[in-house]
Amino acid sequence: MQLKIETKDLTTIKTDLLVVNIHDGKLDSSSLAAKVDKKLGGLIKQIISNENFTGATLSTKLIHTQGKIPASKVLVVGLGEEKKFESLITRRIGGLIIRMAKELKATHITTAIHGGLFKNVSKADCAQALAEGLYLGDYQFTRYKKGTPNPVKEIVLLCPDKKQVAAVTKAANRGKDLAKAVSFSRDLVNTPGHDMTPLNLAKAAQGLPGVKTKIYHLAEIKKMKMGSYLGVAMGSTANPPAFIEMHYKPATKAKKTVVLIGKGVTFDSGGLSLKPPKFMETMKDDMAGAAAVIGLMSVISKLKPKVEVWGLVAATENMPDGHAIRPGDVITAMNGKTIEVLNTDAEGRLTLADALCHAQKKKPDIVIDMATLTGACLVALGNDIAAIMGNDDGLVEDLRSCAKKTAEPLWPLPLVEDYRKELDSPIADLKNIGGAYAGTITAGLFLQEFVGDFKWAHIDIAGPSWTDKPREFESRGGTGCMVRLLADFLDQ
Ligand code: BES
Ligand code: ZN
Ligand code: ZN
Repeated sequence: MQLKIETKDLTTIKTDLLVVNIHDGKLDSSSLAAKVDKKLGGLIKQIISNENFTGATLSTKLIHTQGKIPASKVLVVGLGEEKKFESLITRRIGGLIIRMAKELKATHITTAIHGGLFKNVSKADCAQALAEGLYLGDYQFTRYKKGTPNPVKEIVLLCPDKKQVAAVTKAANRGKDLAKAVSFSRDLVNTPGHDMTPLNLAKAAQGLPGVKTKIYHLAEIKKMKMGSYLGVAMGSTANPPAFIEMHYKPATKAKKTVVLIGKGVTFDSGGLSLKPPKFMETMKDDMAGAAAVIGLMSVISKLKPKVEVWGLVAATENMPDGHAIRPGDVITAMNGKTIEVLNTDAEGRLTLADALCHAQKKKPDIVIDMATLTGACLVALGNDIAAIMGNDDGLVEDLRSCAKKTAEPLWPLPLVEDYRKELDSPIADLKNIGGAYAGTITAGLFLQEFVGDFKWAHIDIAGPSWTDKPREFESRGGTGCMVRLLADFLDQ
């Protein structure tokens, strides 16, 4: 799918589908919709008054132009109220346009930059959001099933203001690049566990532009004394673990070092504490944190942040073969702490513990881990919101303000010191599960035991990493969440 920016008069453009907009029940005189309306003899105005089309957010009207302009069809979309407008609406419109185009078998689309005339958002931000929505809406997982037969071939974004073309082009390309990275992340999640093994996940992290990747195999992981991570990997003799280390260095001397850690359990059966079948169905998703980190790394050479970035993934399956760790076993993490494993399904924290210890070796200023860590997070915050915890309020707030911009909501949970005693074990330094309540917090407190001398934030993405109810720019399956948020954060 090609993306072009065009300054031409839209009424002369030949296209299958021309997309313009209205808002607050009126036509803006300076808008592209007003120009089209003139050429169509006031048809849009008529629809507004006769059909009571007020332009509510994401409402649509399709008009057949019958040769009055070179575009065969015009789609009018609603932006809602100007004072409530945000660029998320533009991203959703992008997804909506692609879905409509596919239904209408339109292969060449021309569209206004929706929201670009409003004062509370910048035209560039809208162009980026539109490109993101278009490319994310176009995403299909085609590895095992063919995609739609009429893919959209070309999209033209209209930018009549020549002074804005450079900024709009840059922003639209950034949106496209980010959407490609999110799509890559979705592909990693959607690929079933038998094909997305730890080794294959490691392969996906190799050869990314501007990134040096190193893979540590079983013998090296043993040498590094990652006993906690290895405890999880033991039960998967058939598919051994792979510790993935990715590294990006900016051209000029970096002021800060950031380590990103992603949970990379390529399939979570629960281990000997086996999950019930229904709960296992989507567990290929248990490497979505890793997919976010690898997705971000896939586009980092284009984003060019001014900080040094390490991406770490302790990739493994969680399987119950004859070598598997047993409930009651005690393992020793890289920092020497002993862990009594009472539930082998609380495996994510065991893999992250050693990854956090390893992060310390990079002398980082900031470490952020992302993990599909607890079902309790779904109970607390539902499908759309990720939980955030950490040891530095400033870092948590910075991430939350990025999250607002990229519309990937984060909500803070407290790392209550008092709850730490739930992790006390009579025979080891700590056990790997807490009590019946606040499972997301006790998981965070467990991780904190392995956090070194750095600012740290932990994001539990058990909810937003997967969707069963498709939205305009998300189809069923992996969402590729947190790639856009991380990109925004590294920029700051
Ligand atoms: N991968 C799961 C968490 C999960 C659940 C992610 C649902 C996405 C959707 C994790 O490894 C797990 O099984 N956690 C247990 C922890 C419990 C045994 C303390 C859980 O949440 O039930
Ligand atoms: Zn589990
Ligand atoms: Zn898991």
